[in-house]
Amino acid sequence: MKKNIAVLPGDGVGPEIIAQAQRVLEAVGKRFGHEFVFEFGLIGACAIDECGEPYPQKTHELCQKSDAVLFGAIGDPKFDNNPNAKVRPEQGLLKMRKSLGLFANLRPIAPFDCLIDKSPLKMERIKGADLMIVRELTGGLYFGEPRGRSENGTVAFDTCVYSKEEIVRVAEKAFELARLRRGAVTMVDKANVLATSRLWRETVKELQAEKYPDVELDFMFVDNAAMQLVTAPGKFDVLLTENLFGDILSDEASVITGSIGLLPSASVGKEVSLYEPIHGSYPQAKGKNIANPIATILSAAMMMEYSFGMKQEAQEIRNACQKSIEEGIVTEDLAGNAAKSYGTTEVGDYICRIIEG
Ligand code: IPM
Ligand code: MN
Repeated sequence: MKKNIAVLPGDGVGPEIIAQAQRVLEAVGKRFGHEFVFEFGLIGACAIDECGEPYPQKTHELCQKSDAVLFGAIGDPKFDNNPNAKVRPEQGLLKMRKSLGLFANLRPIAPFDCLIDKSPLKMERIKGADLMIVRELTGGLYFGEPRGRSENGTVAFDTCVYSKEEIVRVAEKAFELARLRRGAVTMVDKANVLATSRLWRETVKELQAEKYPDVELDFMFVDNAAMQLVTAPGKFDVLLTENLFGDILSDEASVITGSIGLLPSASVGKEVSLYEPIHGSYPQAKGKNIANPIATILSAAMMMEYSFGMKQEAQEIRNACQKSIEEGIVTEDLAGNAAKSYGTTEVGDYICRIIEG
């Protein structure tokens, strides 16, 4: 098969981890006889530097015409430390999500057996945990209007808005995924306080009764879910939630796997899908060849499976990542001790070699 992949490395360690994922895709192409054509685009701080905006039209057009998008990370301390910056790299990510219609973000979380002692959580609590967080990605507080400051600047406000339509389309994804897994959806909200959460509950309940009676559905308040995620993560199969709760809970859930450097994600919606690690741009590590490339490589595996239907290819990538972890060919976040760790490129080398066979 021939596929066109838009590659958006972004900022910080983005270019380094993306380079390894690209090599892995090339290795997969060689092994399975596919042709992957890569075309690069700018996003984030590097796009602001080059053309004054964080998600240029040119990048948008590239994404639209591609079969899938592989994205690294964005963010730069020079903007974080400047509260007066008018354009911020993060606006690029939000604009991209919105304009590509990427309304569902899928974040699978399952510990690797050989790393179970790397998690700060007790082994007996996390053994067998295997969950998928489905985070709504283009609504809620991230996008609601009005937002801003009062005239004298002493009051600030954001607005949380959701329509039934926005809830239904992401909930459908969660139910469909649950059918391919263990058949259970837990919807996480704050329905004891928020009007939007009450609309979520009502809508998801109706949808389940109408279209997904075979899927089990339960509800949990977000504060309780935050606790259950680290005390009894095995309780969850598919966790469905709104944008901000999903952002927070998925970082929290990453401690189950021992490193946020292992977690991939897929953002899906109306047309093209986007694949990215859930971690950020890790600017302190930029250019040091120490960032863990596995989250990005596993995101490429999700691309193979979800966008191209290449299940075997995806499994091959996952197996190679698992092998590198088992053999201790890992970056310092997992090695525990820098002396025993490998560089970003060496981990990539090893994974490519396994795939090439
Ligand atoms: C994520 C990130 C983004 C988000 C930031 C960089 C805007 O934390 O993808 O989880 O909050 O969605
Ligand atoms: Mn986040």
